[in-house]
Amino acid sequence: MTIDFDGRVAIVTGAGTGLGRSHALGLAARGARVVVNDLGVSTDGQGQSSEAAGSVVEEIRASGGVAMAHGADVSDEAGVADMVARAMEAWGRIDILVNNAGILRDKTFAKMTLDDFRKVVDVHLMGSATCCHAVWPIMRAQKYGRIVLTASGSGLYGNFGQSNYGAAKAAMVGLMNVLHIEGARDDIRVNTLAPTAATRMTENLLPPEALDLLAPETITPGLLYLVSDDAPSRVILGAGAGSFAQTRIYETEGVTLLDGDNTPEAVAAAFDRITDPHGQQELGDAFTQTRKYARKAAEARGLTLPWGD
Ligand code: NAI
Repeated sequence: MTIDFDGRVAIVTGAGTGLGRSHALGLAARGARVVVNDLGVSTDGQGQSSEAAGSVVEEIRASGGVAMAHGADVSDEAGVADMVARAMEAWGRIDILVNNAGILRDKTFAKMTLDDFRKVVDVHLMGSATCCHAVWPIMRAQKYGRIVLTASGSGLYGNFGQSNYGAAKAAMVGLMNVLHIEGARDDIRVNTLAPTAATRMTENLLPPEALDLLAPETITPGLLYLVSDDAPSRVILGAGAGSFAQTRIYETEGVTLLDGDNTPEAVAAAFDRITDPHGQQELGDAFTQTRKYARKAAEARGLTLPWGD
């Protein structure tokens, strides 16, 4: 099966450098018309320049592809609306949105200002929500859409000094879960990429030998699959240095403590069984959890609930 994007229109945010640039080049090389979005800021979100986005557009055009640059700040509703309007004017549809733009403002939580916390949440979470919100009605009307959110190991697993970034990146999973459910009937598939790559964001964190292995181009094939016609949906795909792996969220079977047995001491005594991974499951939505708990309580009391399992 060959994956191509002929006839497709893609927006890649933060595509002037690093991972976004690699994704934009990869999409264009396989036929997509690409909006190369970038505000042209430093790693901590300062400054502004149209240079980086422009040079990626030049690169795409030089190899026969089709692209336009747009300098919207992803967290600015009016700028994002303008970007989407220009793509629609030029190409009439938007099939793919890759939310990739991002910044860092690392500090221990003790030293972090709430302004730095808010700014990182604004770019990653509000930026992704703003771009998704702008393309959502278009994708619904087309009955086709592919969206990727960019998370991070920091959000999924934690990383010292990144409470703002980790919180914003974990939020991608929450946004994905709900957009996956709401988008399903219109064939809008939503996935999360958790990359680890050698870019200006990480250049001082890893030895050169490791950076050589972690080129952004090793990750882009996973991104291209996640936005393809046959993409899965609600997958968290870890990617780096040619490795691809899935992160999943499971709930253990758990323990039901009723009436007089429902005490903090009983929770403590049952903690090994509560956390026992045997029989753990992925739950399809929040009400699956609610139904599970109500069913277990009803069973323990010999009651039957009006819904099936
Ligand atoms: P990068 O710093 O090389 O590229 C980020 C791009 O986003 C820059 O070109 C910047 O100008 C742009 N940008 C920042 N704020 C923007 C805004 N408000 N509006 C529009 N554009 C904006 O970073 P890199 O490493 O390529 O990161 C790309 C994404 O991958 C980010 O979301 C990052 O958090 C995520 N990520 C990267 C990892 C890595 O190992 N490099 C690890 C995990 C996640």
